[in-house]
Amino acid sequence: MSASAPLSHRRPTPLREFLYGSPYYPEHWDAATRAGDPALFRAAGWNVIRMAEFAWDVLEPREGVFDFSLFDETIARMGAVGIRTILCTPTATPPRWLTRDHPEVLRIDADGRRQEHGSRQHASHFSPIFRDYSRKITRAMAEHYRDNPHVIGWQTDNEFHCHFREDYNAATETAWHAWLRARFGGDIASLNRAWGTAFWANTYERFEDVVLPRNWRPTYANPAHWLDYQRFLSDGVTAFQRDQVEILRAAQPRWFVTHNGCFGSIDFRGEFTRDLDFLGYDSYPLFDYDPLTRADGHAFNLDHTRAYSGHFLILEQQSGAGGQGNYFHDKPEPGEMRRMAWTSIARGADGLLFFRERSCRFGAEEYWEGILDHDNVPRRRYREAARLGAELARVGRELLGSTVRIAVGVAGADFAVQHGHEPISHGLPSPKNMAEVVHGAFFRAGHAVGVVHPADSLAGLKLYVVPHFAIFDPAWVPALEKFVHEGGTLVVGARTACRDLRSNVVPDTLPGCLRGLVGASVEEYGRQNKPERRPLALRIDGVDTDTPTTLWYEQLVPDAAAGTEVVARWTTRHLAGSPAITRRALGRGQVLYVGAYLTREFTEAALMPLLARLGALPAPISTTPGVEVVERVHADGRLLRVLINHRDEAVRIPPPANARRELLADRALSADELLELEPNGIAIVA
Ligand code: GAL
Repeated sequence: MSASAPLSHRRPTPLREFLYGSPYYPEHWDAATRAGDPALFRAAGWNVIRMAEFAWDVLEPREGVFDFSLFDETIARMGAVGIRTILCTPTATPPRWLTRDHPEVLRIDADGRRQEHGSRQHASHFSPIFRDYSRKITRAMAEHYRDNPHVIGWQTDNEFHCHFREDYNAATETAWHAWLRARFGGDIASLNRAWGTAFWANTYERFEDVVLPRNWRPTYANPAHWLDYQRFLSDGVTAFQRDQVEILRAAQPRWFVTHNGCFGSIDFRGEFTRDLDFLGYDSYPLFDYDPLTRADGHAFNLDHTRAYSGHFLILEQQSGAGGQGNYFHDKPEPGEMRRMAWTSIARGADGLLFFRERSCRFGAEEYWEGILDHDNVPRRRYREAARLGAELARVGRELLGSTVRIAVGVAGADFAVQHGHEPISHGLPSPKNMAEVVHGAFFRAGHAVGVVHPADSLAGLKLYVVPHFAIFDPAWVPALEKFVHEGGTLVVGARTACRDLRSNVVPDTLPGCLRGLVGASVEEYGRQNKPERRPLALRIDGVDTDTPTTLWYEQLVPDAAAGTEVVARWTTRHLAGSPAITRRALGRGQVLYVGAYLTREFTEAALMPLLARLGALPAPISTTPGVEVVERVHADGRLLRVLINHRDEAVRIPPPANARRELLADRALSADELLELEPNGIAIVA
């Protein structure tokens, strides 16, 4: 396979069959259990398993001595019943002989502590020795399996940067100096200027002297230094992955290559993702202990993943409670596991694997539940998985090729914007946190909302909200302007565009590179630390109540020449009477600048009503609270709507307009019937 289409939230995967199954760990089971598994899982509808991400010790028990027999046997037996295999490069867990003979490959954390053998992700991606071993095991596996008809694709490693992302290993420091030299064209003066090292005598004479940044040693560090370190970490893991991808593609071009997880310090809109066919994502909604907010967070995480590069494969979908160390999740109630899976599918998964086939009886995750319990007795989670398997066998193919259709986009999923916030947050929520807050407000109100990166196509959106992107790339501005000219409504939140891509403050009057488009400037800004002591509030024109603000205020000045009007004014303290929200009509659309933080309360009480008054709030696609509706549309216009009941009681709702058929029950819908959805119930209408 080959990835070619540009990264976009609307990019489908090239998968032609809906993949359904689980990770599978033959190294955890005796021969009798393994022998029974193919029939057991095939009966539940599995057509794929994923294997070997933690099995390097089995595959290469001694250096240079390979043993593929366990996986050969499993691939063949599973293949014989129609279950194909995704293999993984096993580099998240190097074997003991490697860490014993080469302790210098172990990662070192910010406190100088060497990571140890015994858990996972302990080897440095910057270590040339480890990279060499990674290439060797990848090559050995790729060559061994290149002609195996049952192997369809690969996952690189497992959840890069899941446990920690910084690396202070000696090899890392050497790589850092080489990276900086390349980035700054060998000119140390250019680094000094870019980072502003004139501050606190940071000036460097040679690249070899540039330290790896450690915040709080003893106090705050330089934000520009930190952001380049994040870019370096991302490039490092990308190079590590690329070694593997090149070997796999050379061995067998028909394989797809993906990776599971969207963790920090990786630029998923960069080369890391362009090297893959599509992204994979691991979905664990039960980490949110509050059943009432779980659906919001789950939807956001899926939308945020889709914003990087488009539709994805769920390589791990939580199937039971996770229990480890000091936590044990809620057990999904009957129907809940299937409902979580359908949510993932509705919002962008073109294939789904449940974590994991069966709970393991040993090791660090002996209470992470699988589809089967420790005693291998098929119970309700197995029956539920089998129900979903039967459904996907019927409707899975109909979903493939379609993409999620949204009307409201929230800016998120940018690497520099998110990591630039870390060393200089001012105690404010991060851009990703704020995107989630705004997304949640639209989600709960039933809107077709998603996350869209500012460099992505905004086609099809009616409304685009950029919550608080302190770092803002001027290259994004022309497309936003075009979006507005063509009829879109753009909402820009406070503090946007106050910093540049180096993470330095811009010299311009705020909102910096957006000032021309917004048609207003920021006269004064301030943090609200104890809003109850000095309360601030604004009032929207034509509304007779005030909306309090928290976190941040900005006093705005509209640009009369741009025709900008004031649509809300501050009503309190020294700000009273001054502009708080401006609106500029431009072409067929409009730009709103909001001089406050888009908290949940503010978004619900002020922003959404204001948009409604301006005729800029699209009609919601769900009008029943607690019922999520997601539209997946094909290029030829065919529309599938997934209805998901998150409530504890059954609901009866009118089917969406023009719905003729319900696909799961495979029946025609009559003109005036109400659709009944039991708790955790799903309907798919076409
Ligand atoms: C994932 C990881 C799996 C397993 C699972 C449950 O993040 O990829 O290997 O650890 O969590 O903890």
